[in-house]
Amino acid sequence: MSTSFSLTGKVIIQFGGTGLLGRALVAELAATGCTLIVASRNRTSLQALADQEGAAGRTVLFEETDITSEASLFALRDRVLAQHGHIDGIVFNAVSRPMKTLHDDLAAWRASMDVNATGLIATMRTFGDAMAARGSGSIVNISSIYGTVGSNLSLYEGTPMTVAPDYFFHKGGMLNLTRYLGSHYGPRGVRANVVSPGGIYNPDTPQPALFIERYNRITMLGRMAEAREVAGAVIFLLSDASTYITGANLPVDGGHTAK
Ligand SMILES: NC(=O)c1ccc[n+]([C@@H]2O[C@H](COP(=O)([O-])OP(=O)(O)OC[C@H]3O[C@@H](n4cnc5c(N)ncnc54)[C@H](O)[C@@H]3O)[C@@H](O)[C@H]2O)c1
Repeated sequence: MSTSFSLTGKVIIQFGGTGLLGRALVAELAATGCTLIVASRNRTSLQALADQEGAAGRTVLFEETDITSEASLFALRDRVLAQHGHIDGIVFNAVSRPMKTLHDDLAAWRASMDVNATGLIATMRTFGDAMAARGSGSIVNISSIYGTVGSNLSLYEGTPMTVAPDYFFHKGGMLNLTRYLGSHYGPRGVRANVVSPGGIYNPDTPQPALFIERYNRITMLGRMAEAREVAGAVIFLLSDASTYITGANLPVDGGHTAK
């Protein structure tokens, strides 16, 4: 097999596609020529996304899916296999952030668990098993710098921005769960890796200038990421250019965690 960065001919499912990073990943993945299926909760947002991509000349299929329901995940798996015959890779980009502070009601923590922990494991084993049955596949989980390091909360002082504890719990958990998956599925040809983005600049509703200035000062490249800059790492890990990489964490953070 020759080394190839191409995703042409591959069937990829992306979970969570309607947010800031999700939309950019959809556009960049669709441009590779793979068959891209976006699975997310909100049908209206999915339809708008597919229309927008269609207008740009890229084809994106979508499937309304709730990752907290195994029945919904099994139905998605069965529909994709019936229509496309196989699955080559998944990108787990779904996230829920019901918690705002450490002392929020525990109902918020439980709601976070439902999507970010239970939804994650249900997705991993449903699609990990489906790819292992065929003997090949790639899992790419989107974590964050906050899966690896803590935060200096003074970064956020004087701004309306908050960082909630469940986010750190789930992003760190995702990292080590992915290593477990790499080990579990490795003998059956399925790789599992993490991409950990740093702060992503939001051009539609920009982060407060005070935060951006502080964040940039402690980041090697001196700026936040553009959402599309995360896609290269995801495409690499889905492609045959990374066939001997599993259990890895690839930071895409402008050097934020490398100091
Ligand atoms: N935005 C940033 O600055 C940043 C930085 C680092 C890492 N990240 C990571 O990037 C990923 C995505 O970020 P985003 O900005 O696109 O997030 P977002 O909150 O804007 O979008 C999350 C997506 O998850 C989907 N989702 C939520 N619950 C679901 C469920 N039960 N079933 C199916 N889909 C569900 C939503 O429909 C949506 O499409 C997250 O993992 C986040 O931690 C983001």
